[in-house]
Amino acid sequence: MRITISRKGVFRRPVIVIGPWAFKIARNWQGCDCNRYEAKLYRSVNAKRRMMLCPVLWTSPWGLLLVIAAAEPTTTRMTMEEYLDLAEEWDQRPGEAICPFEPKPSDWGVYQGRLVALDYSTPAW
Ligand SMILES: Nc1ncnc2c1ncn2[C@@H]1O[C@H](COP(=O)(O)OP(=O)(O)OP(=O)(O)O)[C@@H](O)[C@H]1O
Ligand SMILES: [Mg+2]
Repeated sequence: MRITISRKGVFRRPVIVIGPWAFKIARNWQGCDCNRYEAKLYRSVNAKRRMMLCPVLWTSPWGLLLVIAAAEPTTTRMTMEEYLDLAEEWDQRPGEAICPFEPKPSDWGVYQGRLVALDYSTPAW
């Protein structure tokens, strides 16, 4: 069983991966906001967008803990072109919050063979 601990997050730290689950623990209120934002976004988007997001499995009251499917984080930075393609796929509409993800490699991962965003809370802070 895979167990890893990431201390990289600014708002969620540590992030503990145990087998199929990743536990994102909020460091502060902003971390709670990020956890809640991801849980809400995952629940509310359409099927096409949901395919781009690492699945949220459970969230505790106030967002102190978010359980999300474990993925394999990427290590190489995507090109600007790749990022723009992902932004286009997200299909942001006028009046909507900005694209919820950033291009940094640790924010993306491979889950069930596809590339998904692991951190999609940019509009929360
Ligand atoms: N589902 C996941 N599976 C495996 N690792 C993950 C998962 N989600 C997050 N991680 C790892 O934990 C790290 C921190 O998570 P995340 O980026 O969501 O927190 P954050 O506080 O928003 O970080 P920052 O604002 O610094 O990007 C990520 O960089 C990633 O490598
Ligand atoms: Mg991040």
